[in-house]
Amino acid sequence: MDLLFIFEWLDTSMLADFSKSYAGLFAIVQTFHIASMVMLVGMILLGDLRMLNVLLREVPSQKVIDNTGKWIKIALVTIVLSGVYEASAIAMKLYFNTFYWAKMAGLAMGLAYMYLIRNPIYRRAELSGLEPGGAIAAEAVQPWVVKMVAVTSLVIWFTVSASGRWIGFS
Ligand code: HEM
Repeated sequence: MDLLFIFEWLDTSMLADFSKSYAGLFAIVQTFHIASMVMLVGMILLGDLRMLNVLLREVPSQKVIDNTGKWIKIALVTIVLSGVYEASAIAMKLYFNTFYWAKMAGLAMGLAYMYLIRNPIYRRAELSGLEPGGAIAAEAVQPWVVKMVAVTSLVIWFTVSASGRWIGFS
């Protein structure tokens, strides 16, 4: 489906009139966009490095995943709101920008991966660790699977961030 009409509508919206008129505000919103990216990727990094046994080894992994989950959601809301504001100022440029679409595809993939694969596998890995001889252990996750999940997560979010940065260069 061609989404051009959405970008044309955004380009002529009141939000675009506003964002194109105030360059200083655009810079402030961009700061929020980058700060939320740091929080989002930072929290994901914490969880993934914990599952790779690189840091916070003495803290139960599920605690790290649960605690970072709240901040990931806050960062996601801020990044989408600030991103839409920024997009309104350069909507037509974005529509024709390959890296913008790479970022959006990566974001969709990253979210699906986090909520459908990463978090459930991390949860199951923690449970199987707690009850090695119990019923849950029958579904135990192999350590190499957990590590592959963590590395894949890191690669996906690095790609999303790098594509975002590349929009500015292209
Ligand atoms: C709906 C979601 C998003 C929208 C609409 C959006 C939109 C934008 C726009 C319009 C820009 C400015 C491009 C320019 O410099 O010309 C930007 C920059 C950027 N975005 Fe996003 N973004 C979104 C989500 C994300 C996510 C999830 C990440 C990373 C995890 C991200 C990382 C970046 C980065 C690193 C920059 C470059 C900042 C700079 O170099 O000044 N964005 N984004």
